[in-house]
Amino acid sequence: MSTPKEKVEQQVDSNQQESQEPTVEKQSKGKEKKKKKKKKKKNTEVTPIVQPSQETLQLAKLNEEQLKEEAKKPRLFWDTQPVLKLSEEAKKIGPIEVKKLEDVRKEPYDLHPEFEWYEIDQANDEEMQEIYTLLEQNYVEDDDAMFRFAYPIEFLRWALTPPNWKKVWHLAVRTKKTKKFVAFISAIPGKFELRKAGVVKQLNMVEINFLCVHKKLRSKRLAPQLIREITRRVNLTDCWQAIYTAGVLIPKPISTTRYYHRSLNPSKLIAIGFSRIPKRFERFKNPLEMTERYYKLPDTPQIPGFREMKKSDVGQVLNQLQKFLRQFSIAPQFTKQEFIHWFLPRDGVINSYVVEDPETKKITEFGSFYTLPSTIIGDTKYKLLKAAYLFYYFYTKHSVVDLVRDLLIVAKQKDFDVFNCLDILHNQQLFTELKFGIGDGNLHYYLYNYECPTLRPEEMGVVML
Ligand SMILES: CC(C)(COP(=O)(O)OP(=O)(O)OC[C@H]1O[C@@H](n2cnc3c(N)ncnc32)[C@H](O)[C@@H]1OP(=O)(O)O)[C@@H](O)C(=O)NCCC(=O)NCCS
Repeated sequence: MSTPKEKVEQQVDSNQQESQEPTVEKQSKGKEKKKKKKKKKKNTEVTPIVQPSQETLQLAKLNEEQLKEEAKKPRLFWDTQPVLKLSEEAKKIGPIEVKKLEDVRKEPYDLHPEFEWYEIDQANDEEMQEIYTLLEQNYVEDDDAMFRFAYPIEFLRWALTPPNWKKVWHLAVRTKKTKKFVAFISAIPGKFELRKAGVVKQLNMVEINFLCVHKKLRSKRLAPQLIREITRRVNLTDCWQAIYTAGVLIPKPISTTRYYHRSLNPSKLIAIGFSRIPKRFERFKNPLEMTERYYKLPDTPQIPGFREMKKSDVGQVLNQLQKFLRQFSIAPQFTKQEFIHWFLPRDGVINSYVVEDPETKKITEFGSFYTLPSTIIGDTKYKLLKAAYLFYYFYTKHSVVDLVRDLLIVAKQKDFDVFNCLDILHNQQLFTELKFGIGDGNLHYYLYNYECPTLRPEEMGVVML
């Protein structure tokens, strides 16, 4: 994935968008009607909640062009893997290759003699500190190298240890001599449901994350070794599929999505070059003050009954979340233990809220966001960009806009600088009304060893950390 930051030239200007929207909607609604008629017979697919905006259509076109260009590149590693080529279309929904346990190599793959495999111990503070440092200095940056993800240690622990996690899947490479970590990759188990073209499949997969090679060891084909070795370790548990995301385009995404950002602390975001003063405010005497005013939020959540989620809410929330997620073409299926792990609030890691209806006392809404700061590279005044990322949610009585507005308000109260999300789930409904700006890079979703037609962002129900 790539560290998201606001796209400079094409920042979504809500006012502008509002005035353009009607024509766009008109055009695409016509198309949608025709599509809907055709699809009616086997309607297991997601009906788009919002009509694609001009921006979404432009992005789709750009993605198409990038795909054609990238398809020409030789793929020394990925051509050997069970994934579709960039130029290939899915012909079915199912595994690309079927292997047996006895086909899986029993010994780890060889590394250069200077290095060795090492399974980190997440309970060991020193080792976690070293992994933190490796990632903090070498993990994902934006294209202009201004920001780099800085996953805090407590976040890493949370991300690496859901129910049924395995130590053998927390895989580092270190130098034999100094025992210094130089690369990392991880897998965690998960269950997913895929619904597309009338087919429903349960997938036991792993989520692959935190692939990182030290900057000094780049372009030496260490990444393919990490991917091969983690695949072998996952295969040994009779698991044959994986889901992962990346900012780079490799063979072949199941979906190409985009980050959007909602400024909470515009002065800081502008000072550090994350975003810009909107063009239309430049003509004012004090453009920054106008920008601050534009992004101002109410001081407290607005929906009556909005409060932090408690353990006693879990049953009700999980039930409704599963129901909500069934409308997407691919989404996780959480067990109760997994839900508790992923969503019970943890300070500085995950925040979850519900709306408890004041009359019926039933939970009608649920929303969550996680904390992922980025190091601000080379800024002398500000060291850390504090970002909240929209995680899972559902809504029944109130609108998604009202629900997420309250999440923005609590994020602001907690001193976050920016609130980020992708154009997946129902998030496209948020962008205009809640003043999100478009980000400067794509996030591609991939499945390993699974063939599936390309999904539109709004068909995606998976949020990865
Ligand atoms: C991503 C990263 C590990 C790749 O390492 P590298 O030294 O640049 O690349 P290597 O020479 O080891 O390997 C190149 C191969 O890995 C593939 N690759 C590069 N990035 C990849 C990614 N994010 N996911 C999967 N494969 C990737 C390349 O496509 C290439 O394979 P190909 O020849 O079949 O196209 C490294 O650039 C890095 O740590 N970047 C910062 C963190 C990051 O972006 N992590 C990925 C998060 S999704």
